[in-house]
Amino acid sequence: MIKVVRECGLAPGNVLDFGTGTGESAETLRTELTPRVAGCDMSWASLAAARPRNAVTVAPHGPLPFASGTFDLVHALFVMHFKIPAPMLTELHRCTASGGGHLVANCYGDSIEPYRERMRAANWGLAMSVPVTGVAGHVIDLWERVRRVERPHCRVDQIAGTKSAGDGGSRMDVERAVPNCDAKPVTESEGRSRIDCSTPE
Ligand SMILES: C[S@@+](CC[C@H](N)C(=O)[O-])C[C@H]1O[C@@H](n2cnc3c(N)ncnc32)[C@H](O)[C@@H]1O
Repeated sequence: MIKVVRECGLAPGNVLDFGTGTGESAETLRTELTPRVAGCDMSWASLAAARPRNAVTVAPHGPLPFASGTFDLVHALFVMHFKIPAPMLTELHRCTASGGGHLVANCYGDSIEPYRERMRAANWGLAMSVPVTGVAGHVIDLWERVRRVERPHCRVDQIAGTKSAGDGGSRMDVERAVPNCDAKPVTESEGRSRIDCSTPE
């Protein structure tokens, strides 16, 4: 996927590694692309076990604890077959740069068309698709942010399931790595409370 990004001439400043898990994909991005990488994952267990750098937990449907337009590139390695819910795809769209944000993802098998349909419904446009050499039915897709989507405002501290990984120092780490980032951890009990983000404040 990094090769695709390079060959397309993209020069990402801020990168989000969506579904970062134990953070290995984020470390590869840091080494090969840019130091400005933040990660997020719905699995607190993965983040807590591995304590990847600059990562926060999120609820599976979002919202994401980042300001609109924060990221030039969203990277999703072995994530899209998880049937990412439509509100999360819209959140990823909101958090990418309005002047040309991209999302690069791989997918395979029967998951490809359903995931592409969900991406298009969330206003992502397929810019390019590259078959993975030697692996039948495996593709790498490069998506463009098609148009702005308005989202109701939601306070970061209302984000269900969001908290820092590890020792609580993660918010500052994410903010240092990715300027203009709102990442803010909440306590585990707050994170578990259910919040309706469509309610205006
Ligand atoms: C197979 S792992 C890939 C981890 C990492 N990208 C890599 O390649 O090493 C998929 C990850 O996606 C995360 N994930 C799946 N659905 C998600 C969602 N809706 N929001 C955030 N993370 C999600 C899972 O928790 C898991 O850690």
